[in-house]
Amino acid sequence: MKICFVSSECVPYAKTGGLADVSGALPKALAESGMEVKTFLPLYSSIQTEDYDLKPDISNQGIRIHMGRLSHDFNAWKGHLPNSKAEVYFIDCPTFYHRGELYTNQLDEAERFIFFQQAVLRILQNEHWAPDIIHCNDWQTALIPALLKMSYKWDALFKNTKSLLSIHNIGYQGRFSRDSIYGAGLPYKYYYPGGPFEFYDSFCFLKTGIMFADKISTVSQTYAKEIQTPEFGAALEGVLHDRKKDLLGILNGIDSSVWNPLSDKHIPQNYSFDSFLKKKKNKQALLDAFALPFDTKTPTIGIVSRLAIQKGFDIFKPVLEKILRNDVQFVILGTGEPEYEEFLQNMALKYPGKIAVTIGFNEGLAHQITAGADMFLMPSQYEPCGLNQMYSLNYGTVPIVRQTGGLADTVTDFTQFPTKGNGITFSEYTSDELFQAVERALKLFKNKQNWKKMVSRGMGEDFSWKASAAKYIKLYQQSKLIKQESESIKDKIYD
Ligand code: ADP
Ligand code: GLC
Repeated sequence: MKICFVSSECVPYAKTGGLADVSGALPKALAESGMEVKTFLPLYSSIQTEDYDLKPDISNQGIRIHMGRLSHDFNAWKGHLPNSKAEVYFIDCPTFYHRGELYTNQLDEAERFIFFQQAVLRILQNEHWAPDIIHCNDWQTALIPALLKMSYKWDALFKNTKSLLSIHNIGYQGRFSRDSIYGAGLPYKYYYPGGPFEFYDSFCFLKTGIMFADKISTVSQTYAKEIQTPEFGAALEGVLHDRKKDLLGILNGIDSSVWNPLSDKHIPQNYSFDSFLKKKKNKQALLDAFALPFDTKTPTIGIVSRLAIQKGFDIFKPVLEKILRNDVQFVILGTGEPEYEEFLQNMALKYPGKIAVTIGFNEGLAHQITAGADMFLMPSQYEPCGLNQMYSLNYGTVPIVRQTGGLADTVTDFTQFPTKGNGITFSEYTSDELFQAVERALKLFKNKQNWKKMVSRGMGEDFSWKASAAKYIKLYQQSKLIKQESESIKDKIYD
């Protein structure tokens, strides 16, 4: 099967969050299962082509894309995901992708990703490469299903091409001015209140994707159910509920060539469950680096996170000082909303021996915290999948999480289920429940026998991509069975 995987970020080239980890690992796992995979990514200015042995793709140079009255040219670059047969194409258009950040709030944000999606389809045409599936990820790539059904319908190349839209976070929807519909080359007549492109008086890329994709997936089973409810659906619950038949939750895996305590290149001391005592050296090095006192009896709680409301910082903020009255330390790495950056920095100044904070994005430090901490806190308001709790489990760093989305699917509370618990969970999204959960964890930490049980279960969890990749392949196969004259919304109304 031929799979075209389209994403706005991908490890090791460009990353702001978990989507990059997935895009770097899933295509690799698919290629290992015998699929022919081409991944597509914008060539952001932060990507140094020589670092990854990327070469100009001589058959895809100087391609012009028209977007309404605008037109720009791009060149393609090519390479392979590290240690993989999966090819990666990069769309090089400095006007759009040399911005310092992957995502911007600038006026042409819609055009940046319209251009990207058009460029992908143009390369496929140039290469005469007809994918069985175009696997789109999040709003930045969610117009492709509609483009296939409308603007590119004339091209017989895509006659048997189906689309899958994976939703990694329903909170980011890509909503823009209706004028962008012209730029996208989609028919404006379908923009009307409640229509397939319209969402609260805006042109919504994600809603368009949900309406037109042949299949829809999200990154955990619980989140697949949650997004069909008003609490979690971010107002798209109705549209998703209508497509329930085609919506599936598949838990992300983790790339064990990158996240594995036995071989992790970023940490001072490799270890496994059998050599668990060695983990202590990572704790010592981490605390030394931040001038925090080292004592095996004092638990260290790690946080590595985007500092966004989604991640639970609004319930963490009111109880942090109360938690700090215990014998406990925090090492926190994050970047995001200024309110939380300032708050955490102030706390670090106020409690110098107890809390260390690094504001920024630092891959190595993320690994060192995961390996060096005793516990890992993720009090998310919602969490489509979450990767850090899986990394922590495999690193013997006990997760304390709110029971939502992928956190609920991977972490089982030890107090409630002593025979299978691998971490600590709480359910209500309140500061009080978060506080109680941390207190429980601190108490459990003193009971070495129970702690070891949790650690051994976590380290034994198999989160490898193989199983999840097999589920995607099954979903691809199912989408191939959808007939052209199927009942799905897009064919019924818009043919
Ligand atoms: P999300 O994608 O919502 O941010 P995930 O848990 O799926 O959450 O993935 C986050 C990924 O980004 C993990 O690999 C995590 O280690 C990484 N990450 C988040 N913040 C930082 C940071 N400040 N520095 C380095 N890595 C980070
Ligand atoms: C999103 C979600 C996160 C998920 C990641 C990868 O960023 O917030 O929960 O793990 O995508 O699917």
